Amino acid sequence: MVKPHGSETLNPLYVQDEQKRAALLKEAEGLPSIVVCSAAAANAVMLGSGYFNPLTGYMNVADSVSVAEKMRTANGLFWPVPIVNMVEDASSIAGAKRIALRDPNVEGNPILAIQDLEAIEQFSDEQMKMMTDKIFRTDDPKHPGVAAFNSVGKTVISGPIQVLSFSYFEKEFPETFRTAYQIRAEMEKLGWKKVVAFQTRNPMHRAHEELCRMAYEAVNADGILIHMLLGKLKKGDIPADVRDASIRKMVELYFPPNTVLITGYGFDMLYAGPREAVLHAIFRQNTGCSHLIVGRDHAGVGDYYGPFDAQTIFREEVPAGALEIEIFEADHTAWSKKLNKVVMMRDVPDHTKEDFIMLSGTKVREMLSKGEALPPEFSRPEVAQILMKYYQSQAE
Ligand code: ADX
Repeated sequence: MVKPHGSETLNPLYVQDEQKRAALLKEAEGLPSIVVCSAAAANAVMLGSGYFNPLTGYMNVADSVSVAEKMRTANGLFWPVPIVNMVEDASSIAGAKRIALRDPNVEGNPILAIQDLEAIEQFSDEQMKMMTDKIFRTDDPKHPGVAAFNSVGKTVISGPIQVLSFSYFEKEFPETFRTAYQIRAEMEKLGWKKVVAFQTRNPMHRAHEELCRMAYEAVNADGILIHMLLGKLKKGDIPADVRDASIRKMVELYFPPNTVLITGYGFDMLYAGPREAVLHAIFRQNTGCSHLIVGRDHAGVGDYYGPFDAQTIFREEVPAGALEIEIFEADHTAWSKKLNKVVMMRDVPDHTKEDFIMLSGTKVREMLSKGEALPPEFSRPEVAQILMKYYQSQAE
């Protein structure tokens, strides 16, 4: 199995020993505490899960700036986006050595983690602008990731953490939320060595299903890890439980048993296109996957990125040897009316646009809301039915 990023073995920051965790929770109740933002909470969940190996906590200003500028921390670790705990006001923890981080996404703001305070610093306006431009390739406040990054405050609380909870993810998605160390253990048990990971924040239609199959066959993999985002999304995106149900139905009906693991991770979508794709590669390497599928408009939103920028970054900006995981580059994939199957456009140079069945997200939403069936070439009927039920419940 592929080694974790930056270390020989995975070092998840969740305190797995129950007694130790209970003692730390007790200690945390007596510590100065702060309610963190949703992105920082998601970072804690990712650090706890081992997905952000080998980081030991939240970055300081020097590391954040260096990561944004050149995808390396100050001491040279390859890393694509700052992992930070940013707040508006840190006065409640001023002077403390150890603090409790409270969860903004669960009622009553329970303890999420304990942080050893390394520093409380401020990002300057120039640093915020530079980081925004580098991470998102735009500073347009209409970009949902830019808006989120610039709305939580510029005070940055750095230092190592011990994670004591996986926020709402374990409870809300007991069948699907998995940590990197759980996925490694599961794949080891199955004897999977070569595994293709599929990142998704959407339901899976036939193009996505076929992408997984094509990659699986092309690299001669032992299995496919469908790994869906379970955290916060922009308005209009389909909620995780609906996606989960539709993906489970697709796998149940259309994949042979024991070829697919359906899992999810607790992170808020950044919509950072290329930079997020690199982060995606790192955390799939940490699960032990050998390949990550990167297709069209990976982790994108609107027209902020070129359709294949998230592939180009691996060729042009990720130094050789920085990652062990390999990228399976997928071209635009759709149903060919000529060949009666899903194809990658690069494989059918004789086709024109009219030869494919393609529907925009808007069109799909519109049809399903009205109770119109999607073409079976576009979406498996059983998948479309689950989505239709959701859209119609929204319209009521
Ligand atoms: S993402 O934001 O999580 O990347 P999405 O769930 O839509 O969005 O896509 C999951 C993966 O499938 C990404 O790698 C994306 O590039 C790829 N993908 C989605 N649709 C297509 C398509 N029609 N052709 C090729 N790749 C696609």
